[in-house]
Amino acid sequence: MSAVTRSGCVGDGPGYDAFCQFLSSACGIILGDNKQYLVNSRLSNLMDEHGICSLTELVERLKGSPGSTLYVAVVDAMTTNETSWFRDAYPYEFLSQQLLPQAEAANRALRIWSAASSSGQEPYSISIVVDEYLNNISSSLRPVKIIATDISQTVLNEAKKGLFHQIALDRGISAARLNRYFESDGDLWAIKHEIKSRIDFREFNLLGSYGPLGKFDVVFCRNVLIYFSAEIKRDILRRIAGVLNPGGYLILGGAESMADYSDSFDVVRLKNGLVYQLKE
Ligand SMILES: C[S@@+](CC[C@H](N)C(=O)[O-])C[C@H]1O[C@@H](n2cnc3c(N)ncnc32)[C@H](O)[C@@H]1O
Repeated sequence: MSAVTRSGCVGDGPGYDAFCQFLSSACGIILGDNKQYLVNSRLSNLMDEHGICSLTELVERLKGSPGSTLYVAVVDAMTTNETSWFRDAYPYEFLSQQLLPQAEAANRALRIWSAASSSGQEPYSISIVVDEYLNNISSSLRPVKIIATDISQTVLNEAKKGLFHQIALDRGISAARLNRYFESDGDLWAIKHEIKSRIDFREFNLLGSYGPLGKFDVVFCRNVLIYFSAEIKRDILRRIAGVLNPGGYLILGGAESMADYSDSFDVVRLKNGLVYQLKE
């Protein structure tokens, strides 16, 4: 099937297949059949700007310039960045009711990785829970460090700024938390420094080398594995197991499961969801 870009260029069938292969090897995202419309809607402006007339030509350009501005922009445009505050609630209840009390009792400093952090709602939600724990429950918790990573520079830059429209805050931030943790900044709301300062934002491809990230006690890898093939899911879960400290936890998306992809974890059933713990 052919797809016509705004300038009249054509997204040819073989070009679509070659583009799917490029995307899968660049960032793991599998498009599947009949997603030409998606490629077209996300890339037509970019292709027009670069005077590229077909997906075949685009793939040739990308192959010849890995890491170029065009390459980064294409991968960026093909990511889906849907997110919200305190998404699904149970990971954050698990954090406040089990992980933080356990860390305090063991006098352990925690390192938490938000592995596909999008525009920041996930790591900021984690940091807010930590702050609430420190203020309401106990102040003897040792420092909690959050590493937040994403492949998309666009969402990572938004996350680093920590500025949100009311409409984004309406998706999960209560009035009490809005008053406590945000300051009005023109039409936007700025998250307070005390919440931001616990987070280290970094660009990172889940297909890359995990060594430089160090070890973690908890990994949030939520709502990203769904975009990958079974083979890539297995590889990423194996590598996450490798960066978890003994007894560490992995939290996937509410609709994601690791059945068939890894046997390195035990399932921990919670009231409203489940999390995974690295086997001894
Ligand atoms: C749907 S969002 C999920 C955000 C958040 N974890 C949540 O559950 O609300 C998926 C994120 O995964 C990122 N992503 C996709 N492929 C990636 C890769 N290979 N490496 C790192 N991040 C990736 C996307 O840029 C996007 O921001």
